[in-house]
Amino acid sequence: MNEYNSLPADFTWGVATAAYQIEGAVAEDGRSPSIWDTFSHLPGKIDNADNGDVACDHYHRWREDIGLMKQLGVDAYRFSVAWPRVVPGGDGPVNEKGLAFYDRLVDGLLEAGITPFPTLYHWDLPQTLQDRGGWPARETAEHFAEYAAVVARRLGDRVKDWTTLNEPLCSSWIGHLEGRMAPGLTDITAAVRASYHLHLGHGLATQAVRAAVPGARVGIVNNLSPCEAATEREEDRAAAVRADGHTNRWWLDPIHGRGYPQDMVDLYGVRLPVRAGDLDTIATPLDWLGVNYYFRNVVTDDPTGPPPHAKQVYLPGARRTAMDWEVNADGLENILLRVANEYGARKIYVTENGAAYPDVVRADGSVDDPERVQYLDEHLAACARAARRGAPLAGYFAWSLLDNFEWAYGYDKRFGLVHVDYATQRRTVKSSGHRYADIVRSTRGRGRKAA
Ligand code: FCB
Repeated sequence: MNEYNSLPADFTWGVATAAYQIEGAVAEDGRSPSIWDTFSHLPGKIDNADNGDVACDHYHRWREDIGLMKQLGVDAYRFSVAWPRVVPGGDGPVNEKGLAFYDRLVDGLLEAGITPFPTLYHWDLPQTLQDRGGWPARETAEHFAEYAAVVARRLGDRVKDWTTLNEPLCSSWIGHLEGRMAPGLTDITAAVRASYHLHLGHGLATQAVRAAVPGARVGIVNNLSPCEAATEREEDRAAAVRADGHTNRWWLDPIHGRGYPQDMVDLYGVRLPVRAGDLDTIATPLDWLGVNYYFRNVVTDDPTGPPPHAKQVYLPGARRTAMDWEVNADGLENILLRVANEYGARKIYVTENGAAYPDVVRADGSVDDPERVQYLDEHLAACARAARRGAPLAGYFAWSLLDNFEWAYGYDKRFGLVHVDYATQRRTVKSSGHRYADIVRSTRGRGRKAA
């Protein structure tokens, strides 16, 4: 018996990427700078002073990259559309050349039998909108919905699976509170307002996509982590509740019509800029929920640290990736069951999951990455267990198709199933890529669509 038999027959196997992390060609065909272009060129923000100027040169090599997906045998490709390519001014005129790139990409995918799963916002806000206030300003949410409508009208005859936002937690907390990501602020008021307008933008964009695309299936992608106390101490247990509010409930409650968790509103001490009708817009029903899962969060009380005053620690013996993220596949099973049972998610995709390790190309040109193979096996087994226990899991997207620009960590942190030699742009499928292809192939012929 195939260990993945608990997954539905039409389970979607995919790979994921994001525009700024792979495309390069940042000044081509009318693209304007995004907040990540600005941030990555500031001294000291990115390891090795790396930036996304060239990245994987996917803007020119997308045909080859579709070829790699075919080789892996995947059903679907989750990529993101760069707002600064499509509407370089943030609002206003549409850049035909930018749209045409995604048009060609979608056609190429469909020709290869691969379903496109575009994400409308994976962190690359046009810098011009940042200059006008960024996500802390309400207008940004409105402009996001206008831009979403432009993309949906253009691709919607062929694209039915849409994602509004990728990980608004990172845009808000890491970008506006911790300052480790663009736009690099450390301001709780800006962070809370950004989170609110990201949610509002999500709701407005969901409605805009549905209005433009008959039969659209729209979802949002959140990164979630079970938060656990490192000890039985009362303070640590309270810290775990706060960490859970910060990491999970703040992002899940409002989109499910529960408003913002009051304990966290009190903790942040920032008034939410709610206007009549907003909370309903934010809770516009979803067709599916996307879960990005990387690690479990074990915490201790940290009264002097930034909100939520909880510090991540490691239990003895914890295995860690090159990112220092704890490997804990049970956490994925738990999170999937939680969104199903506590939030009533009717359809879930794991929209990202993966691990960074310091891969090396061997003398014979191959890349063997046994730790990533193990990570993949363990996390797919966790998906299968969650499905067996009733989670309505519809698909899994490995992060990532390619090694790429890992934000503040630059190119050193490699997450790909495919290795990229940045000097030559040569791509090499790693052992993990071959392993994934084998798993995908092994689940074929269970009444699902043919390869
Ligand atoms: C997620 C991001 C993705 C990638 C992975 C490793 O937080 O969505 O772009 O960087 O982490």
